Formats: sequence, structure tokens, C-alpha cells
Amino acid sequence: MSVLLSCTGLTMRFGGLTALDSLDMAVEEGDVLGLVGPNGSGKTTFFNVATGIYRPSSGKVLFQDEDITAKSPQEIYRMGIARTFQRSRLCLDLTVFDNIMIGNHKNLDFGIIHNLFKRRSFMAEYEDNLEKARSMLHALNPALAKRIHQPVGLLNMIDRRRVEVCRALVSKPKLLFLDEPSAGMTHDETRRLMDEVLAFSRADEKFTLVLIEHEMEVIRRTTNRCIVLNFGRKLCEGDYESVTADPFVQEAYLGTDL
Ligand SMILES: Nc1ncnc2c1ncn2[C@@H]1O[C@H](COP(=O)(O)OP(=O)(O)OP(=O)(O)O)[C@@H](O)[C@H]1O
Ligand SMILES: [Mg+2]
Repeated sequence: MSVLLSCTGLTMRFGGLTALDSLDMAVEEGDVLGLVGPNGSGKTTFFNVATGIYRPSSGKVLFQDEDITAKSPQEIYRMGIARTFQRSRLCLDLTVFDNIMIGNHKNLDFGIIHNLFKRRSFMAEYEDNLEKARSMLHALNPALAKRIHQPVGLLNMIDRRRVEVCRALVSKPKLLFLDEPSAGMTHDETRRLMDEVLAFSRADEKFTLVLIEHEMEVIRRTTNRCIVLNFGRKLCEGDYESVTADPFVQEAYLGTDL
């Protein structure tokens, strides 16, 4: 498989704090890559830099061999990287469908004049998007697809997280970043959600996922490879067994009780 995303010498400083420190790493097509490390080790910062939210202090990010270091979040999203956020970004008063479409800017590009005067094509676009959102929800969880017109505020935690995942998936990304999907959920809910995401992703062997996760059991069950960060640097990488056998990882992050 070929390299989909890579970074070299990636450094992100916030004043005197170095959140990413000369990071070199690569994500291969078809990877389910676990990104782990202690609080503040730079995991979310990596997502923020790779999706164009922050411009790095130095270093480069390549996506499909194209330099995306200076591109805007919208450009990067259109190129095929979608993400979820560590803290929920749902509008609880809006419906499931509206929340999913908030993330789908690249397909709603008509502008107000078009929407005012071309009502028919706007409605056709609306129906088309509704169908896409419904089938995406259905692929993840059929019961949730039936609740597409309900406000998100009525949903439980796992359904809200499913909506966030659908919002990222509806753009048909080549690369999906999930930032701690287990936050606020039980072990069982996390396991169910990740099983659904993996079942969905297996339909496309090129589907590529980077998963930030503190729960090592989730990492063990879902990933084929892990990268461990510490102080913004890569501590080690490999499959779950080799990474967790590393004495530095045991000491720096995992503790000795694994
Ligand atoms: N916008 C910012 N301004 C200043 N400092 C920041 C900013 N974003 C991140 N940091 C700092 O950079 C470091 C890395 O933060 P980051 O959020 O990437 O860690 P993380 O590995 O995702 O941690 P966690 O597991 O707690 O989510 C932390 O010390 C954090 O306080
Ligand atoms: Mg984080």
C-alpha cells in the first residue's frame, strides 16, 4: 500500500511550549493507525496541523504527495481528510440531518442567488443530500437512520457520537481522523461504535483511519499499527504488541500493569 499522508520535521510551538517536536510519521493507505500518548503529548495538535487549523512552526505535511502544509481547512477537507473533534461539536437543537450537513460544505456550494432563484434544483440537491445522509446513517446504525429528523438533543451519547462520525463520513473522505471517540462513553458503547466504524470501513480496502485513543483496549482491538507520542516526539511505533512491550512506553505512558 502507498503512503497517503506523511509529515517530516513537523514542529508546532505555542509561545515557549513545543507541542510537536520534529515529528516524522507516515500513514499508509488502508491503515487503521492508533495515535496514543499521555495528556498534552501533541496528538490533537497533530490533527489540527494536518487539517490546516494551525500552520506549523516548521516542517511539512504531504497528502497524496501534495504539500498541504499551507492549505486552508476547507481545501484540505475537499482533498479528502475529515475529522471528528475531541469535544462534541453538535448543535443539540438541530436535527440529526442538519448536524450532518453542517459538515458537508463542499457539496453545498451554490450561494444565495442560486438558492433563491433555482428552488427546484435546490430541492433536488436537498433530497439528494437527505438520501446520502440517511444511507450513511443506515450503514453505521439502521435504528439511528429512522431518527434523522429528530433533534440531536434527544439522542443518547453513543447516537450523538454516531452523528459526529457520520458528519465526517458523509464527505466520503480518503482519510478519517477520530479524536478520542470513547470520551464520555462506557467501554461497551465504545466497542460498539468502533465495530460499526470498522465494519463500514471494511467495505473499502483503501479506507484509512487515524484514531486518537486513551483506551488501550480500543487500540488493541481496532488498529493494525500504533504510534506513541511523548512531548510531541515519536516515542515508538509498531503493532500493539510490540509497542506495549517497549519499556519506554511502559514507563512513559502505559504503566506496568498491562
Ligand atoms: N492553541 C493552543 N495554544 C496554546 N497551547 C496549546 C494549544 N493547543 C495545544 N496546546 C498545548 O500543546 C500541548 C499538546 O496539546 P494537545 O492538545 O495536542 O495534546 P493531546 O495529546 O491531544 O492531549 P489530550 O490527551 O489531553 O487530548 C499541550 O501542552 C497543550 O496545552
Ligand atoms: Mg487531545
